[in-house]
Amino acid sequence: MSKDAAKKLAERGSARSHRPTGNKFVKYIGTNWAIDTTPLPKQSKVAPFAAARRDAVAEAFQGKIVVIAAGPELARSNDDFYRYRPNSAFAHLTGWGSSTVSDSVLVIDARGKKQKSVLYFRESAGKKSAEFFSNSQIGEFWVGFRPNLKQVAALLGIQTKSLSKLDADLAEHKKKNVLTLEKSTKLVEFVSELRLIKDSYEIAEMKKAVAASIKGFESIVKNLSAATKHPRGERIVEAAFYAEARAEGYDLGYGTIAAAGSHACTLHWVDNDGPVKPGELILVDAGVEVESLYTADVTRTLPINGKFSKLQKEIYMAVLEAADAVFAMAKPGVTYSEMHKTAMKVIAQKTADWGFYKGGYEESLKPENQWHRRWMIHGTGHHLGLDVHDCAQARREMYHDHVLEEGMIFTIEPGLYFHKDDLMVPKEFRGIGVRIEDDVLVTRTGVQNLTAKLPRKPEEIEAWMAKLKA
Ligand code: GLY
Ligand code: MN
Ligand code: MN
Repeated sequence: MSKDAAKKLAERGSARSHRPTGNKFVKYIGTNWAIDTTPLPKQSKVAPFAAARRDAVAEAFQGKIVVIAAGPELARSNDDFYRYRPNSAFAHLTGWGSSTVSDSVLVIDARGKKQKSVLYFRESAGKKSAEFFSNSQIGEFWVGFRPNLKQVAALLGIQTKSLSKLDADLAEHKKKNVLTLEKSTKLVEFVSELRLIKDSYEIAEMKKAVAASIKGFESIVKNLSAATKHPRGERIVEAAFYAEARAEGYDLGYGTIAAAGSHACTLHWVDNDGPVKPGELILVDAGVEVESLYTADVTRTLPINGKFSKLQKEIYMAVLEAADAVFAMAKPGVTYSEMHKTAMKVIAQKTADWGFYKGGYEESLKPENQWHRRWMIHGTGHHLGLDVHDCAQARREMYHDHVLEEGMIFTIEPGLYFHKDDLMVPKEFRGIGVRIEDDVLVTRTGVQNLTAKLPRKPEEIEAWMAKLKA
């Protein structure tokens, strides 16, 4: 299709609603509005933290112009868009969270001794423009308040400029001196690794995300009985959590896994269209993303009728033992890989004790065997923050092979999953899946469980569920 034809088709959509046009109308609709006397916003607490992060980028890329784009809105279908969510590196380096204007761009000029940063964004065009009433994607008649340059500068403590100036400003620099996330792997790695250790602002935001997520789990328990009465009870569970995510935060940090019965064995079960049956377990993996865009990542496996059966409890306790073994050894100086090995030793021992394979757990732990991994194929944890799988572009030596340091936040999430058609395990194990996932902060001497307020032990879970259902 030619460019002209594509433009014509795109314009056809917006022409459908027959908005009035012409200079006379623009003038008429642009007048007789009260002057906005709202004072400038107070500077956000994140501002000095974001400035320090930009300093770190400038130091690493001396002499360059670093460009970090927030990214465009993504179309769901036709002219319907997903809720906007900026790129995480952009959010980290500006401190701008859920209220980020789409297509904004951060430019860090690292040529001088002290970096100079400018945040370019599409500011409100004001009520005198045609955009105000005629642009359904960004006009304030349609989407509500959009900030001006001064307001965002005051909020984030950064120089702001109109997005319309960006191309001309960048054109002043030689192309090879301009680094973007699309062009520079080094930059991608650096901004990912910059998030490995959380500052005090980030830790506080993570605690908010966890608190909101705990409310979400409480709401799930309150809705479990209703879920058992609906043919797609998993959706009732998913929706109960989502209501809290929207009420208490910005959104979900990732698609909720509400996996009842044997669905728990599908690691990323997000269809959530199955029934919730008393007597079975339900595995729920869900996290609230707060307005600053930090997310929790929590899993609890609950007995739907409020009480674990003997075998459910036995499997649950095996997973809990694996998790607790990691909690006991995680501290500054140990590596990610060592934590994984610790969990795997317990998983191998348990599955060997149950007699699921011959040869003993030590044989299974040998790299060439790994028989126990049939029942826990995923990793034991990952960094957590602005992204659910945070710092994912960090180099291996900075992640899996790196020692833990104070201020890191990650998950501990062992599991055991016995598929309903797994002929290697006894019938009674089949269709049971358990995962326990907590979010932890590395302290000077160990780890603090940020999700400790959500019960983990079977008796505590039963008591908590009984109390919420009462
Ligand atoms: N919710 C995805 C994960 O646990 O990694
Ligand atoms: Mn996780
Ligand atoms: Mn999870």
